[in-house]
Amino acid sequence: MKAAVVGTGYVGLVTGVVLARLGHQVTCIDKDPEKVAKLAGGIPTIHEEGLGPMLSACIDEGRLTFTTAYDEGCPQADVVFIAVGTPEDSEGKANLTFVRAAAESIGDVISGRTVVVTKSTVPPGTNRKVKQWVADKAPAGTDIAVVSNPEFLRQGSAVYDTFHADRLIIGAEDIRAGDLVEKLFAPLEVPVLRTDLESAELIKYASNTFLAMKISFINEMAQIADRIGADVTKVAKGMGMDRRISPDFLKAGIGYGGSCFPKDTKALTRIAEEAGYEFTYGKATDHVNDQQKNLLVEKALFRFGSLKDMNITLLGLSFKPGTDDMREAPSLSIIESLMEEGANVTVYDPVAAEKAAPLLPETVVTANDLKESLDGSDSVFLVTEWDEFKQMDLSMIASLCSQNILFDERNVFTEEDVKSAGIEYHSVGRRS
Ligand code: UGA
Repeated sequence: MKAAVVGTGYVGLVTGVVLARLGHQVTCIDKDPEKVAKLAGGIPTIHEEGLGPMLSACIDEGRLTFTTAYDEGCPQADVVFIAVGTPEDSEGKANLTFVRAAAESIGDVISGRTVVVTKSTVPPGTNRKVKQWVADKAPAGTDIAVVSNPEFLRQGSAVYDTFHADRLIIGAEDIRAGDLVEKLFAPLEVPVLRTDLESAELIKYASNTFLAMKISFINEMAQIADRIGADVTKVAKGMGMDRRISPDFLKAGIGYGGSCFPKDTKALTRIAEEAGYEFTYGKATDHVNDQQKNLLVEKALFRFGSLKDMNITLLGLSFKPGTDDMREAPSLSIIESLMEEGANVTVYDPVAAEKAAPLLPETVVTANDLKESLDGSDSVFLVTEWDEFKQMDLSMIASLCSQNILFDERNVFTEEDVKSAGIEYHSVGRRS
């Protein structure tokens, strides 16, 4: 089949590459000519395992092209995907400017029957608007069908997640359009749930908010565990052994970040509010997460009294390992608080340093490697659980730092690891 994908961010690019890999003819459209040139040359614009080789192979085999021109992909396509961003607006709602612009640009170039599939995370009711936005620009009588097909891939494992998805949600009123999308993804052999448009749209927000809620829940358990002398990792393990709960997304830490959980939790709260309902869990999930991000600096202040002129090393900048994405990364708010307290901050991240550079205050020093980052440090804060940090020799802290102190905000190390290295160790919800 022929597909066009509008937007080459995480969702659009991975969708385009995977569809081409499945044997479809795919045109990816993006308004950014630089991005298009890079991608057309086989250079991935995001750090995503397995994406590079698949991208080049699909281009070489002639199944994947990139363009800035809607008319080079949309009129010919059986299915046109919208996979543009829906960032948070100033009121915490999803900003639909890019979705609308994409829908109108599609309308500008199509004429026959067109199936428009929204992959972007959009509030319930948006697909109906998309249909209208496309129709407003298309010639009279154009047959437009819309399908809601939310995406559930995680950054850092986007390719794997697409090939091993738990489910494919297809929300459509037009049965033929839904069938077409189901057929497009059939080679993936993923369980399919067909729904109406609004339910598909809500499934996406409900899923992300539920996962965010699990994280905030376990972060609160960590608070309780600290106070009563329990170990939150054991609590999570014991809870997760109950199949109804599942062990996933029960890792206490620094709080969730990224481009999805923070924005989608807020957006669902606003969606509910506009529908006349107060979404208590959404508000609480968000509140606990904000609190969690401040906790590390509070703990350090409690330990040291003052952070003024202390040399602090932050290990990890991206919001999680496996990605260089800095959106809503907890490291940024921690750095801001440390600067406010007068600390000297050195950071090291094996992948995200370049993306982080424009976001960091000028006085922050970016180290080139782990060793350099630890040299002369008074206290080390582990913020992102990259393998390089998980595998680090803890005796480096004793030998390179001026004080022997580690705040492990991802509970990476065990009591034994720490004991043998002889360092002062603080973690999350584990009595230390
Ligand atoms: C999330 C969802 O997991 C995807 O299903 C969804 O498609 C995506 O949002 C989206 O809407 O686009 P992502 O933001 O890439 O994916 O990252 P996750 O792996 O879910 O992690 C999110 C945050 O939660 C990270 O900051 C991570 O460190 C944190 N987290 C995760 C925890 O603190 N504890 C956990 O147990 C799990």
